[in-house]
Amino acid sequence: MRTVDLIQKKRDGGELSREELAFLIQGYSSGRIPDYQLSAWAMAVYFQGMTARETADLTLEMAASGDQVDLRSIQGVKVDKHSTGGVGDTTTLVLAPLVAAAGVPVAKMSGRGLGHTGGTIDKLESIPGFKVELTEEQFVEQVNRHGLAVMSQSGNVTPADKKLYGLRDVTATVNSIPLIASSIMSKKIASGADAIVLDVKTGSGAFMKTLDDSIRLAEAMVAIGEEVGRETVAVISSMDQPLGVAVGNALEVKLAIETLKGEGPADLEELCVTLGAHMLVLGGRALEIGEAKDMLYEIIRKGYALKKFKEFVAAQGGSPSFIDQPSQLPTAKHVFPVEARTAGYVAAIEAERIGLGAMMLGAGRETKEASIDLAAGMLLKRKIGDLVEAGDVLVELHTNRGEASLVEAVRQQVLAAYTITEAKPAEPTLMYAVVTKAGVERLV
Ligand code: URA
Repeated sequence: MRTVDLIQKKRDGGELSREELAFLIQGYSSGRIPDYQLSAWAMAVYFQGMTARETADLTLEMAASGDQVDLRSIQGVKVDKHSTGGVGDTTTLVLAPLVAAAGVPVAKMSGRGLGHTGGTIDKLESIPGFKVELTEEQFVEQVNRHGLAVMSQSGNVTPADKKLYGLRDVTATVNSIPLIASSIMSKKIASGADAIVLDVKTGSGAFMKTLDDSIRLAEAMVAIGEEVGRETVAVISSMDQPLGVAVGNALEVKLAIETLKGEGPADLEELCVTLGAHMLVLGGRALEIGEAKDMLYEIIRKGYALKKFKEFVAAQGGSPSFIDQPSQLPTAKHVFPVEARTAGYVAAIEAERIGLGAMMLGAGRETKEASIDLAAGMLLKRKIGDLVEAGDVLVELHTNRGEASLVEAVRQQVLAAYTITEAKPAEPTLMYAVVTKAGVERLV
Protein backbone atom coordinates (compact mmCIF):
# COMPACT_ATOMS: atom_id res chain seq x y z
CA MET A 1 0.00 0.00 0.00
CA ARG A 2 1.24 3.53 -0.74
CA THR A 3 0.13 6.61 1.19
CA VAL A 4 -0.03 8.73 -1.98
CA ASP A 5 -2.60 6.35 -3.50
CA LEU A 6 -4.82 6.63 -0.40
CA ILE A 7 -4.61 10.44 -0.49
CA GLN A 8 -5.57 10.36 -4.16
CA LYS A 9 -8.46 7.97 -3.52
CA LYS A 10 -9.89 10.29 -0.85
CA ARG A 11 -9.19 13.40 -2.94
CA ASP A 12 -11.31 11.86 -5.73
CA GLY A 13 -14.19 11.06 -3.37
CA GLY A 14 -13.47 7.37 -2.75
CA GLU A 15 -14.15 5.40 0.44
CA LEU A 16 -11.13 4.01 2.28
CA SER A 17 -11.32 0.50 3.72
CA ARG A 18 -10.57 -0.36 7.37
CA GLU A 19 -7.17 -1.72 6.28
CA GLU A 20 -6.36 1.48 4.41
CA LEU A 21 -7.32 3.66 7.40
CA ALA A 22 -5.30 1.40 9.72
CA PHE A 23 -2.31 1.82 7.39
CA LEU A 24 -2.65 5.62 7.56
CA ILE A 25 -3.25 5.95 11.32
CA GLN A 26 -0.71 3.37 12.41
CA GLY A 27 1.81 4.73 9.93
CA TYR A 28 1.31 8.27 11.17
CA SER A 29 1.46 7.27 14.86
CA SER A 30 4.70 5.40 14.36
CA GLY A 31 6.28 8.26 12.42
CA ARG A 32 6.53 6.24 9.16
CA ILE A 33 4.06 8.57 7.39
CA PRO A 34 5.17 12.23 7.52
CA ASP A 35 3.03 15.20 8.57
CA TYR A 36 2.77 16.55 5.01
CA GLN A 37 1.13 13.40 3.70
CA LEU A 38 -1.35 13.12 6.57
CA SER A 39 -2.24 16.79 6.23
CA ALA A 40 -3.00 16.26 2.55
CA TRP A 41 -5.28 13.35 3.51
CA ALA A 42 -6.97 15.47 6.26
CA MET A 43 -7.62 18.24 3.72
CA ALA A 44 -9.08 15.68 1.29
CA VAL A 45 -11.39 14.48 4.09
CA TYR A 46 -12.30 18.10 4.83
CA PHE A 47 -13.58 18.54 1.26
CA GLN A 48 -14.85 15.04 0.46
CA GLY A 49 -16.17 13.93 3.88
CA MET A 50 -16.32 10.31 5.00
CA THR A 51 -19.01 7.66 4.98
CA ALA A 52 -20.47 6.48 8.30
CA ARG A 53 -18.52 3.25 7.98
CA GLU A 54 -15.26 5.03 7.28
CA THR A 55 -15.81 7.40 10.23
CA ALA A 56 -16.48 4.45 12.56
CA ASP A 57 -13.37 2.63 11.34
CA LEU A 58 -11.21 5.73 11.80
CA THR A 59 -12.64 6.08 15.33
CA LEU A 60 -11.82 2.49 16.23
CA GLU A 61 -8.29 2.79 14.80
CA MET A 62 -7.64 5.89 16.92
CA ALA A 63 -9.22 4.30 20.02
CA ALA A 64 -6.86 1.33 19.57
CA SER A 65 -3.76 3.52 19.19
CA GLY A 66 -3.02 3.69 22.95
CA ASP A 67 -4.28 2.55 26.37
CA GLN A 68 -7.84 1.29 26.52
CA VAL A 69 -9.45 1.46 29.93
CA ASP A 70 -11.15 -1.74 31.00
CA LEU A 71 -14.22 -0.92 33.09
CA ARG A 72 -15.74 -4.41 32.91
CA SER A 73 -15.17 -5.00 36.62
CA ILE A 74 -17.53 -2.11 37.43
CA GLN A 75 -21.05 -3.43 37.88
CA GLY A 76 -23.80 -1.79 35.85
CA VAL A 77 -23.95 0.11 32.58
CA LYS A 78 -21.20 2.75 32.51
CA VAL A 79 -22.63 5.84 30.83
CA ASP A 80 -20.15 8.58 30.00
CA LYS A 81 -20.98 12.19 29.18
CA HIS A 82 -19.05 14.56 26.99
CA SER A 83 -19.49 18.19 26.13
CA THR A 84 -18.08 19.56 22.89
CA GLY A 85 -16.70 22.49 24.86
CA GLY A 86 -18.12 25.65 26.30
CA VAL A 87 -17.73 28.56 28.61
CA GLY A 88 -19.03 28.29 32.17
CA ASP A 89 -19.82 24.67 31.42
CA THR A 90 -20.12 23.43 35.00
CA THR A 91 -22.26 20.45 33.95
CA THR A 92 -19.91 17.57 34.86
CA LEU A 93 -19.49 18.84 38.44
CA VAL A 94 -23.26 18.73 38.88
CA LEU A 95 -24.18 15.83 36.64
CA ALA A 96 -21.68 13.26 37.91
CA PRO A 97 -22.83 13.21 41.57
CA LEU A 98 -26.46 13.65 40.52
CA VAL A 99 -26.45 10.59 38.26
CA ALA A 100 -24.32 8.57 40.68
CA ALA A 101 -26.82 9.35 43.46
CA ALA A 102 -29.51 7.83 41.20
CA GLY A 103 -27.55 4.58 41.00
CA VAL A 104 -25.83 4.84 37.59
CA PRO A 105 -22.06 4.32 37.98
CA VAL A 106 -19.99 7.27 36.75
CA ALA A 107 -16.38 6.49 35.81
CA LYS A 108 -15.23 9.67 34.17
CA MET A 109 -11.95 10.70 32.65
CA SER A 110 -11.70 14.44 32.10
CA GLY A 111 -9.27 16.95 30.74
CA ARG A 112 -7.82 20.31 31.61
CA GLY A 113 -8.91 23.61 30.11
CA LEU A 114 -7.19 25.16 27.13
CA GLY A 115 -7.76 28.56 25.55
CA HIS A 116 -11.16 30.03 26.28
CA THR A 117 -12.78 26.75 27.45
CA GLY A 118 -12.46 25.28 30.94
CA GLY A 119 -11.70 21.71 32.01
CA THR A 120 -13.25 19.65 34.81
CA ILE A 121 -9.88 18.52 36.18
CA ASP A 122 -8.74 22.10 36.88
CA LYS A 123 -12.10 22.87 38.48
CA LEU A 124 -11.83 19.88 40.84
CA GLU A 125 -8.27 20.84 41.75
CA SER A 126 -9.59 24.06 43.25
CA ILE A 127 -10.83 21.89 46.15
CA PRO A 128 -7.74 21.68 48.38
CA GLY A 129 -6.37 18.14 48.66
CA PHE A 130 -8.44 16.75 45.76
CA LYS A 131 -6.39 14.15 43.84
CA VAL A 132 -7.02 13.87 40.10
CA GLU A 133 -4.33 11.26 39.39
CA LEU A 134 -5.67 7.78 40.18
CA THR A 135 -4.39 4.41 39.05
CA GLU A 136 -6.84 2.35 37.01
CA GLU A 137 -7.29 0.04 40.03
CA GLN A 138 -8.08 2.95 42.38
CA PHE A 139 -10.46 4.38 39.78
CA VAL A 140 -12.42 1.13 39.40
CA GLU A 141 -12.40 0.44 43.14
CA GLN A 142 -13.76 3.90 43.91
CA VAL A 143 -16.59 3.59 41.39
CA ASN A 144 -17.56 0.20 42.82
CA ARG A 145 -17.53 1.61 46.37
CA HIS A 146 -18.94 5.14 45.87
CA GLY A 147 -20.55 4.97 42.43
CA LEU A 148 -18.38 7.85 41.17
CA ALA A 149 -14.77 8.71 40.31
CA VAL A 150 -13.28 11.40 38.06
CA MET A 151 -9.65 11.20 37.02
CA SER A 152 -7.31 13.03 34.71
CA GLN A 153 -7.14 11.43 31.29
CA SER A 154 -4.04 9.24 31.02
CA GLY A 155 -1.35 10.59 28.72
CA ASN A 156 -1.53 7.52 26.53
CA VAL A 157 -5.25 7.43 25.70
CA THR A 158 -5.69 7.85 21.91
CA PRO A 159 -2.18 9.16 21.09
CA ALA A 160 -3.08 9.00 17.38
CA ASP A 161 -5.90 11.48 17.96
CA LYS A 162 -3.58 13.75 19.94
CA LYS A 163 -1.04 13.80 17.10
CA LEU A 164 -3.67 14.20 14.39
CA TYR A 165 -5.45 16.96 16.32
CA GLY A 166 -2.17 18.87 16.61
CA LEU A 167 -1.76 18.59 12.83
CA ARG A 168 -5.37 19.62 12.12
CA ASP A 169 -4.95 22.64 14.34
CA VAL A 170 -2.20 24.04 12.09
CA THR A 171 -3.57 22.91 8.72
CA ALA A 172 -7.09 24.42 8.91
CA THR A 173 -8.72 20.99 9.11
CA VAL A 174 -10.24 21.06 12.61
CA ASN A 175 -13.72 21.97 11.40
CA SER A 176 -14.49 18.74 9.59
CA ILE A 177 -17.50 16.86 10.96
CA PRO A 178 -16.11 13.30 10.50
CA LEU A 179 -12.74 14.35 11.96
CA ILE A 180 -14.32 16.02 15.03
CA ALA A 181 -16.77 13.14 15.50
CA SER A 182 -14.08 10.45 15.32
CA SER A 183 -11.75 12.47 17.58
CA ILE A 184 -14.35 12.82 20.35
CA MET A 185 -15.78 9.29 20.05
CA SER A 186 -12.35 7.61 19.97
CA LYS A 187 -11.58 9.09 23.42
CA LYS A 188 -14.93 7.99 24.82
CA ILE A 189 -14.53 4.46 23.47
CA ALA A 190 -10.94 4.14 24.75
CA SER A 191 -12.15 5.38 28.16
CA GLY A 192 -14.37 2.29 28.43
CA ALA A 193 -17.91 3.73 28.20
CA ASP A 194 -20.78 1.32 27.47
CA ALA A 195 -23.07 4.18 26.44
CA ILE A 196 -22.48 7.88 25.81
CA VAL A 197 -24.49 11.08 26.31
CA LEU A 198 -23.16 14.03 24.33
CA ASP A 199 -23.82 17.68 24.98
CA VAL A 200 -23.22 19.21 21.55
CA LYS A 201 -22.88 22.96 21.89
CA THR A 202 -24.17 25.25 19.20
CA GLY A 203 -23.89 29.01 18.72
CA SER A 204 -21.37 31.82 18.84
CA GLY A 205 -19.19 30.25 21.55
CA ALA A 206 -19.15 26.72 20.07
CA PHE A 207 -17.19 24.84 17.39
CA MET A 208 -20.41 24.51 15.43
CA LYS A 209 -21.97 27.93 14.94
CA THR A 210 -25.20 26.82 13.22
CA LEU A 211 -27.90 24.43 14.36
CA ASP A 212 -27.72 22.45 11.10
CA ASP A 213 -23.98 21.81 11.49
CA SER A 214 -24.46 20.89 15.15
CA ILE A 215 -27.15 18.38 14.23
CA ARG A 216 -24.90 16.92 11.52
CA LEU A 217 -22.06 16.55 14.05
CA ALA A 218 -24.45 14.92 16.56
CA GLU A 219 -25.77 12.54 13.89
CA ALA A 220 -22.22 11.55 12.94
CA MET A 221 -21.36 10.72 16.56
CA VAL A 222 -24.63 8.84 17.17
CA ALA A 223 -23.93 6.82 13.99
CA ILE A 224 -20.40 5.96 15.21
CA GLY A 225 -21.90 4.82 18.52
CA GLU A 226 -24.32 2.56 16.61
CA GLU A 227 -21.57 1.12 14.40
CA VAL A 228 -19.38 0.25 17.40
CA GLY A 229 -22.13 -0.97 19.75
CA ARG A 230 -22.12 1.94 22.25
CA GLU A 231 -25.55 3.53 22.29
CA THR A 232 -25.14 7.30 21.99
CA VAL A 233 -27.59 10.15 22.52
CA ALA A 234 -26.81 13.80 21.79
CA VAL A 235 -28.52 16.87 23.22
CA ILE A 236 -27.91 20.06 21.23
CA SER A 237 -27.61 22.95 23.67
CA SER A 238 -26.96 26.65 23.28
CA MET A 239 -23.59 28.34 23.60
CA ASP A 240 -25.05 31.69 22.52
CA GLN A 241 -24.25 32.85 26.03
CA PRO A 242 -22.21 31.20 28.79
CA LEU A 243 -24.11 28.53 30.74
CA GLY A 244 -24.91 29.43 34.35
CA VAL A 245 -23.34 32.51 35.91
CA ALA A 246 -19.76 31.51 36.75
CA VAL A 247 -16.65 31.20 34.57
CA GLY A 248 -13.48 30.07 36.32
CA ASN A 249 -12.46 27.12 38.42
CA ALA A 250 -13.29 27.73 42.11
CA LEU A 251 -16.18 30.00 41.06
CA GLU A 252 -17.69 27.12 39.08
CA VAL A 253 -17.23 24.69 41.99
CA LYS A 254 -19.12 27.14 44.22
CA LEU A 255 -21.89 27.36 41.63
CA ALA A 256 -22.03 23.55 41.30
CA ILE A 257 -22.53 23.30 45.10
CA GLU A 258 -25.45 25.77 44.89
CA THR A 259 -26.94 23.84 41.98
CA LEU A 260 -26.62 20.52 43.81
CA LYS A 261 -28.56 22.16 46.66
CA GLY A 262 -31.30 23.17 44.21
CA GLU A 263 -30.30 26.83 44.45
CA GLY A 264 -28.39 27.21 41.17
CA PRO A 265 -29.30 29.02 37.94
CA ALA A 266 -32.25 27.56 36.06
CA ASP A 267 -30.35 26.97 32.77
CA LEU A 268 -27.56 24.97 34.42
CA GLU A 269 -30.00 22.89 36.46
CA GLU A 270 -32.28 22.19 33.49
CA LEU A 271 -29.44 21.11 31.21
CA CYS A 272 -27.91 18.88 33.91
CA VAL A 273 -31.25 17.24 34.68
CA THR A 274 -31.91 16.63 30.97
CA LEU A 275 -28.46 15.15 30.28
CA GLY A 276 -28.72 13.16 33.52
CA ALA A 277 -32.16 11.83 32.52
CA HIS A 278 -30.70 10.46 29.27
CA MET A 279 -27.91 8.85 31.30
CA LEU A 280 -30.47 7.19 33.60
CA VAL A 281 -32.43 5.81 30.65
CA LEU A 282 -29.28 4.49 28.92
CA GLY A 283 -28.10 3.08 32.27
CA GLY A 284 -31.38 1.18 32.72
CA ARG A 285 -32.48 3.15 35.83
CA ALA A 286 -35.54 4.69 34.20
CA LEU A 287 -37.77 3.78 31.28
CA GLU A 288 -38.38 7.23 29.92
CA ILE A 289 -37.04 10.78 30.14
CA GLY A 290 -39.96 12.32 32.07
CA GLU A 291 -39.72 9.69 34.82
CA ALA A 292 -35.93 10.09 34.95
CA LYS A 293 -36.18 13.89 35.29
CA ASP A 294 -38.65 13.53 38.18
CA MET A 295 -36.22 11.15 39.90
CA LEU A 296 -33.34 13.61 39.51
CA TYR A 297 -35.28 16.64 40.77
CA GLU A 298 -36.31 14.55 43.80
CA ILE A 299 -32.66 13.55 44.41
CA ILE A 300 -31.63 17.22 44.42
CA ARG A 301 -34.55 18.20 46.66
CA LYS A 302 -33.75 15.52 49.21
CA GLY A 303 -30.08 16.54 49.39
CA TYR A 304 -28.78 13.21 48.03
CA ALA A 305 -26.89 14.82 45.13
CA LEU A 306 -24.93 17.15 47.43
CA LYS A 307 -24.27 14.24 49.83
CA LYS A 308 -22.86 12.20 46.95
CA PHE A 309 -20.63 15.12 45.90
CA LYS A 310 -19.20 15.33 49.44
CA GLU A 311 -18.64 11.57 49.54
CA PHE A 312 -16.83 11.76 46.18
CA VAL A 313 -14.65 14.71 47.25
CA ALA A 314 -13.65 12.88 50.45
CA ALA A 315 -12.91 9.66 48.51
CA GLN A 316 -10.45 11.59 46.30
CA GLY A 317 -8.63 13.25 49.21
CA GLY A 318 -10.44 16.59 49.43
CA SER A 319 -12.00 17.78 52.66
CA PRO A 320 -15.83 17.86 52.56
CA SER A 321 -15.66 20.89 54.87
CA PHE A 322 -14.93 22.97 51.74
CA ILE A 323 -18.27 21.86 50.35
CA ASP A 324 -20.05 22.85 53.58
CA GLN A 325 -18.21 26.18 53.57
CA PRO A 326 -17.54 27.12 49.94
CA SER A 327 -16.24 30.52 51.07
CA GLN A 328 -13.09 28.62 52.15
CA LEU A 329 -12.36 27.67 48.51
CA PRO A 330 -9.74 29.79 46.69
CA THR A 331 -10.93 33.40 46.55
CA ALA A 332 -9.41 36.21 44.47
CA LYS A 333 -7.84 39.31 46.08
CA HIS A 334 -9.66 41.73 43.78
CA VAL A 335 -13.25 41.97 42.52
CA PHE A 336 -13.76 44.62 39.81
CA PRO A 337 -17.29 45.43 38.55
CA VAL A 338 -17.92 45.96 34.84
CA GLU A 339 -20.84 48.36 34.46
CA ALA A 340 -23.26 48.79 31.57
CA ARG A 341 -22.68 51.98 29.57
CA THR A 342 -26.22 52.12 28.20
CA ALA A 343 -29.67 51.12 29.36
CA GLY A 344 -31.66 48.39 27.63
CA TYR A 345 -32.11 44.66 27.42
CA VAL A 346 -29.21 42.20 27.27
CA ALA A 347 -29.72 40.66 23.82
CA ALA A 348 -26.55 38.57 23.41
CA ILE A 349 -23.40 37.60 25.31
CA GLU A 350 -20.53 36.27 23.21
CA ALA A 351 -19.34 33.29 25.21
CA GLU A 352 -15.94 33.15 23.51
CA ARG A 353 -15.08 36.73 24.53
CA ILE A 354 -16.14 36.02 28.12
CA GLY A 355 -13.97 32.87 28.13
CA LEU A 356 -11.01 34.81 26.72
CA GLY A 357 -11.49 37.55 29.31
CA ALA A 358 -11.55 34.98 32.13
CA MET A 359 -8.36 33.47 30.73
CA MET A 360 -6.70 36.92 30.81
CA LEU A 361 -7.67 37.22 34.50
CA GLY A 362 -5.75 33.99 35.13
CA ALA A 363 -8.54 31.37 34.96
CA GLY A 364 -7.30 29.64 31.80
CA ARG A 365 -4.16 28.69 29.91
CA GLU A 366 -2.91 30.18 26.67
CA THR A 367 -0.53 27.26 26.23
CA LYS A 368 -0.66 23.72 27.60
CA GLU A 369 2.26 24.40 29.96
CA ALA A 370 0.92 27.65 31.48
CA SER A 371 -0.20 27.64 35.11
CA ILE A 372 -3.61 28.91 36.15
CA ASP A 373 -5.10 30.83 39.04
CA LEU A 374 -7.88 28.69 40.51
CA ALA A 375 -9.58 31.68 42.15
CA ALA A 376 -9.78 33.82 38.99
CA GLY A 377 -12.75 34.22 36.67
CA MET A 378 -16.02 36.07 36.25
CA LEU A 379 -19.50 36.12 37.72
CA LEU A 380 -22.19 37.16 35.25
CA LYS A 381 -24.72 39.38 36.98
CA ARG A 382 -26.89 39.87 33.89
CA LYS A 383 -27.89 37.40 31.19
CA ILE A 384 -29.94 37.47 27.99
CA GLY A 385 -33.37 39.03 28.54
CA ASP A 386 -32.40 41.04 31.64
CA LEU A 387 -33.19 44.77 31.73
CA VAL A 388 -30.28 47.00 32.75
CA GLU A 389 -29.78 50.68 33.58
CA ALA A 390 -26.54 52.48 32.65
CA GLY A 391 -24.16 51.86 35.55
CA ASP A 392 -25.64 48.47 36.55
CA VAL A 393 -23.06 45.75 37.08
CA LEU A 394 -23.00 43.32 34.16
CA VAL A 395 -20.09 41.18 35.31
CA GLU A 396 -17.73 40.91 38.28
CA LEU A 397 -14.08 40.26 37.46
CA HIS A 398 -12.34 38.09 40.08
CA THR A 399 -8.55 38.12 39.90
CA ASN A 400 -5.29 38.17 41.81
CA ARG A 401 -3.79 40.32 39.01
CA GLY A 402 -4.55 43.91 39.84
CA GLU A 403 -2.67 45.71 36.98
CA ALA A 404 -4.87 48.53 35.71
CA SER A 405 -4.04 47.88 32.03
CA LEU A 406 -5.05 44.22 32.29
CA VAL A 407 -8.29 44.99 34.12
CA GLU A 408 -9.12 47.63 31.49
CA ALA A 409 -8.44 45.21 28.64
CA VAL A 410 -10.75 42.62 30.21
CA ARG A 411 -13.40 45.27 30.87
CA GLN A 412 -13.34 46.16 27.15
CA GLN A 413 -13.58 42.46 26.27
CA VAL A 414 -16.68 42.08 28.49
CA LEU A 415 -18.34 45.22 27.09
CA ALA A 416 -17.69 43.94 23.57
CA ALA A 417 -19.23 40.58 24.52
CA TYR A 418 -22.52 42.14 25.66
CA THR A 419 -25.08 43.40 23.14
CA ILE A 420 -27.64 45.71 24.76
CA THR A 421 -30.71 46.68 22.77
CA GLU A 422 -33.80 48.81 23.26
CA ALA A 423 -36.11 46.05 22.12
CA LYS A 424 -36.73 43.05 24.38
CA PRO A 425 -35.09 40.02 22.79
CA ALA A 426 -36.84 36.68 22.34
CA GLU A 427 -36.57 34.23 25.24
CA PRO A 428 -33.20 32.45 24.84
CA THR A 429 -33.30 28.80 23.83
CA LEU A 430 -31.39 26.41 26.07
CA MET A 431 -31.87 23.13 24.19
CA TYR A 432 -32.65 22.79 20.50
CA ALA A 433 -32.84 19.08 19.73
CA VAL A 434 -32.13 15.54 20.85
CA VAL A 435 -30.46 13.20 18.38
CA THR A 436 -30.77 9.44 18.89
CA LYS A 437 -30.54 6.40 16.64
CA ALA A 438 -34.27 6.95 15.98
CA GLY A 439 -33.59 10.39 14.47
CA VAL A 440 -33.74 14.08 15.37
CA GLU A 441 -36.33 15.34 17.82
CA ARG A 442 -36.58 19.14 17.59
CA LEU A 443 -37.37 20.78 20.94
CA VAL A 444 -38.15 24.23 19.51
N1 URA B 1 -12.88 18.13 20.55
C1 URA B 1 -12.13 17.04 20.30
O1 URA B 1 -11.83 16.25 21.19
N2 URA B 1 -11.73 16.84 19.02
C2 URA B 1 -12.04 17.66 18.01
O2 URA B 1 -11.66 17.42 16.89
C3 URA B 1 -12.82 18.80 18.31
C4 URA B 1 -13.24 19.00 19.60
